[in-house]
Amino acid sequence: MKTQVAIIGGGPAGLLLSQLLDLHGIESVVLERRSRDYVLSRIRAGVLEQGTVDLLRAAEVGARMDRQGEIHDGVEISWHDERLNIDIKDLTGRGVMVYGQTEVTQDLYTARDARGGTVLHEAEVTGIEGIEGDGVTVHFTHEGEAKTLTADFVAGCDGFHGPSRKAIPESHRQEFERAYPFGWLGLLSETPPAAPELIYAAHDRGFALCSMRSPTLSRYYVQVSLSEKLEDWPAERFWDELRTRIPADVAETLVTGEPLEMSIAPLRSFVSEPMRHGRLFLAGDSAHIVPPTGAKGLNLAASDVYYLHRAFDRFYNHGTSEGLDAYSETALSRVWKCERFSWWMTSMLHDFPETGAFERRMQRAEFEYLQMSETARKSFAENYVGLPY
Ligand code: FAD
Ligand code: DHB
Repeated sequence: MKTQVAIIGGGPAGLLLSQLLDLHGIESVVLERRSRDYVLSRIRAGVLEQGTVDLLRAAEVGARMDRQGEIHDGVEISWHDERLNIDIKDLTGRGVMVYGQTEVTQDLYTARDARGGTVLHEAEVTGIEGIEGDGVTVHFTHEGEAKTLTADFVAGCDGFHGPSRKAIPESHRQEFERAYPFGWLGLLSETPPAAPELIYAAHDRGFALCSMRSPTLSRYYVQVSLSEKLEDWPAERFWDELRTRIPADVAETLVTGEPLEMSIAPLRSFVSEPMRHGRLFLAGDSAHIVPPTGAKGLNLAASDVYYLHRAFDRFYNHGTSEGLDAYSETALSRVWKCERFSWWMTSMLHDFPETGAFERRMQRAEFEYLQMSETARKSFAENYVGLPY
């Protein structure tokens, strides 16, 4: 097989890139190691920044999102029973869109199918050759056979565990990492959301988040230690723990139900530099991870894809490699700012087992500063709705 851009990974980054390239007349093939059903069964992100929303519309996959997504103009932070509403619309002129990653991915599959795009499932990439030469060869297995795809470039959109990042020689790569000593236990249920807006709750027993996917579908998270096992968390235990951590009046009216899904995700901050080596370009979780607090992961994948598709457009349609040459620096500049915000929000709201009394007072002071200062809330809101591209 031969194409212009070989895309490894059929998550949101890979699918969105292939759709945007297609709209600019550039050919690509997406190789995804999992089945379509498996990719769609992963419950992940739920909040889209305005920039992501605009990009999905530009990619002609925004129609269902605009019909079914919910625009939120505010967000809440709570500290035991103290509640702080941050009116992000008033502070920034923008809101965020509540629309699940699963739905975004489904819309992208529908669009790729409609345009006759090639997305190979159960196609696992096993090797990448020639990124320092004049063309790349991607080795993969599909339907039990070893196959190859040759291309001008390869886009590594294969998430944190994929092979693309590791194809950059260690001598040319620097990794920055912070692992947190806890994870998020998530629960999805067919119940009405606890409150009209998302609530990020800090509590002595640990962080909790009340989120949603629709008026009838709720998503909740509680901070748990890394040693916790899913089997030790029957739904009743989860609901009890959530109720203790969120404001009492919200807990009182919380509607609980059978979980549709429960899972534990570890929290990590990670950046690999540079995001380009020769003919290989990394985008999304393959290059960086943020802890989920603040909902930046999927949105960062989208901003990478924005820069990358424009760079390919300039290369193929305007004959200049300037965009490709600037890609890593341009993308990383935004990545680090979102890393900072996600790290800061995680640090403010979670219970750190090793933390002493001084750090706890610092967390409290952060909250009180947000309560008293419109400037602090504005800075929060500017980051929450998404920094400009
Ligand atoms: P992925 O979605 O990981 O896709 C990579 C794809 O590559 C996968 O489908 C994988 O199967 C495939 N792949 C891997 N190896 C190979 C191989 N060898 N060959 C072929 N294919 C391969 N982000 C937000 O913005 N907002 C949120 O609210 C939010 N909440 C989250 C909650 C949880 C519990 C988790 C886990 C994440 C959350 N995120 C959130 C992060 C967000 O889900 C990710 O940032 C996003 O999925 C990144 O997209 P991606 O396409 O880069 O990577
Ligand atoms: C969700 C996840 C997040 O990390 C976040 O900050 C907000 C919402 C969610 O899954 O709904």
